Amino acid sequence: MKRATLLVLLALGLAVAAESRAADPAVRIAAHRGGAGLWPEASLLAFRQALALGVDCLEFDLHMTRDGELVVIHDATLDRTTTAQGAVRDLTLGQLAPARIRARDGSVTDEPVPTLAAVLDLAAPAAVGLLPEIKVGPDGTPYPGIEAKVLALLRARGVLGRAVVQAFEGSTLRRLLALEPTARTMLLVGRARLQRERAAPREAVRWAQEVGATDLGIDHRIVDAALVAEARTAGIRISVFTVNEEQDLRRMLELRVDAVMTDRPDLAKRLFGR
Ligand code: G3P
Ligand code: CA
Repeated sequence: MKRATLLVLLALGLAVAAESRAADPAVRIAAHRGGAGLWPEASLLAFRQALALGVDCLEFDLHMTRDGELVVIHDATLDRTTTAQGAVRDLTLGQLAPARIRARDGSVTDEPVPTLAAVLDLAAPAAVGLLPEIKVGPDGTPYPGIEAKVLALLRARGVLGRAVVQAFEGSTLRRLLALEPTARTMLLVGRARLQRERAAPREAVRWAQEVGATDLGIDHRIVDAALVAEARTAGIRISVFTVNEEQDLRRMLELRVDAVMTDRPDLAKRLFGR
């Protein structure tokens, strides 16, 4: 065989290999609440450890204090995960400052409830994706102006381009997109909404499109190959929560979802061969 023919065949082979890699991207691993199965939930310690482990993304939840500061905590109230009590929205940042996060065994750590600014300061120098979720108050009402504050901080830290802002409420994402149409957003859909609306799983893809979201985040138990294909056809990326068991992580890997949110990023890394 002539040398030129060999070179053409080699080039073709490389092109095919590159295309197959593009069609088979890695499933990204997001440390859910910083990796709450390993470290104190949503603490700076957890986010630091997750970065050291080499996760692709940090997932965390946002609430707003009485004086308009954004803090990273899952619940609208402090009771479950910290030494303090009451609703975040009823306390100023100063009043919240003495609260300490409880470890998984209930013991008290030295970790305060972090501000969004502190988490972004930690994440900004690392090449990590961000999945901030805008939550609502204890009665389900939105925090006034929270979308603008989230955008301002993401912009100020130069990380808006690698953030996908999540919310269960489509109205939250619509407000955010009205302020920043280029933002990447993820509509979250749980089993409760599908049951309440007696909707088939593929409706979740349509709901994400309706609010203008780029991504759908959905309970992994709802996801199958048909739903992943539906999302791909619609041009919607699909992430799944919260995937902590080995068999579920393996299933999501096989389905080639875009990202898994997991409390056990260490397990996901091992199973995904990373
Ligand atoms: O953001 C995805 C997932 O975290 C939603 O559930 O309750 O853990 O915020 P939750
Ligand atoms: Ca969340």
